[in-house]
Amino acid sequence: MESGAVKKKWGFQVKQEHITATATLTVRSALTIIKQNLKENDPRPIIPLGHGDPSAFPCFRTTPVAEDAVVDAVRSAEFNCYSPSVGILPARRAIAGYLNRDLPCKLSPDDVHLTAGCKQAIQVILTVLARPGANILLPKPGFPLYEANARHTHLEIRHFDLLPEKGWEVDLDGLEALADENTVAMVIVNPGNPCGNVFTYQHLQKIAEKARKLGIMVISDEVYDHLTFGSTPYVRMGVFGSTVPVITLGSMSKRWIVPGWRLGWLVTSDPSGILQELRVDSFLPSKNLYKCCNCKPTIIVMRFFFALSRLLIPSKAISTSPLAPQPSFRFVLNASFFFFFDEHNDIAEDQWF
Ligand SMILES: Cc1ncc(COP(=O)(O)O)c(C=O)c1O
Repeated sequence: MESGAVKKKWGFQVKQEHITATATLTVRSALTIIKQNLKENDPRPIIPLGHGDPSAFPCFRTTPVAEDAVVDAVRSAEFNCYSPSVGILPARRAIAGYLNRDLPCKLSPDDVHLTAGCKQAIQVILTVLARPGANILLPKPGFPLYEANARHTHLEIRHFDLLPEKGWEVDLDGLEALADENTVAMVIVNPGNPCGNVFTYQHLQKIAEKARKLGIMVISDEVYDHLTFGSTPYVRMGVFGSTVPVITLGSMSKRWIVPGWRLGWLVTSDPSGILQELRVDSFLPSKNLYKCCNCKPTIIVMRFFFALSRLLIPSKAISTSPLAPQPSFRFVLNASFFFFFDEHNDIAEDQWF
C-alpha cells in the first residue's frame, strides 16, 4: 500500500468461527490432530484404524457389473444431458424397487430423491427442517457430519445417549426428556457408525412409537444397509412409516464400495401423508430446494444413474464387501472410544460427538 493512502473499506467480511467449529467436527480433522501429536522417532509401528474408504484397499472392489454400467452409460452418449433435479425416473424407480424388498408398505419413485452421496442427503434434510428456534436430537456417539450440518443451518443440537450396556440402543427416556415443542426430528444411524450395532425390530418399533408420541420425524441413516456382522437381522426404519414419518438416507458408497461415485438418495416413508400435510415434501429436491441451493454434483452423477439402475435390481449384481471378522471390528471401536472418552485426554469430548 502506498504510504499515506487511505485504507479501502470493503463491504464483505468472512466470519470464520462457525466454519472453523464445524471443520473440527470431522473424522479427518481428528486424525490430523492425532498424527500431529505422534512422537517423532517413536519406533512403534502405527496401524491406521481410521480408514473410512474401503476403495483404498485392492481387495475391496465393486462388482464388474457396476463398472460396466458406468462405462456403457458414458459411451452411449445418451446421458450427457441435464437431468431433472430430483433425478431421472428410471433411477428413482430402481432405488424404490431396491428398498421395497425390505418394506411392507411400498415406495413409489416419487418418494425417492437423488443426491450426491448420503452426505448431500444429510445436508438437504437438515436444510429443509431448519427454522428459527428449532432443535434436532442427535445420537451420541454419532456421525459428526450431522453436527456440522446442523450448526451450518443453525439447528440447535441436543444429544441423546446410545447405551453401550444395551448394545448401543437409544436411551428412549433420555430422548424424551430432551424433546420439546421446537424439536423437529431425531436421527438414527442403522447399522450404526461408529458403534457398529444393528437395531432390533422391537427397538425400532419403540423408537417409532416414541417419535410419534413426541411429534417428531425419524431420519434414518442407512448408508451401511445390509452390512451387518452380527446375528441381528437388518430392518429398515421405513417399516414403521405408518407409525411415524421416516426419512431414509442412503447411498451406493458403502455396499458397492464406490464412495467416489457420489450416488445417494433421500427417501420418504410416509403412507399417512403427514409430510405432505405439513409441506415438508414441498421443500425436498423434487420441488423447491434445488432452486435455491446449488447442487451441481448431483446433476453430474445422475447422468450415469439410468445405467446403474439396472444393477440396483438383480440381487446377484449386488456386491457386499468381504466379511470383516466381528472381533476385529470390535477392536477398532474399543480403541476409538478409549481415545475419545479417556478422562485424561486433553481433547474435549464434545468436540467429537
Ligand atoms: C453414517 C454415515 N452417513 C453418511 C456417510 C456419507 O456417505 P456418502 O459417502 O454416501 O456421502 C457416512 C460416511 O462415512 C457415514 O458413515
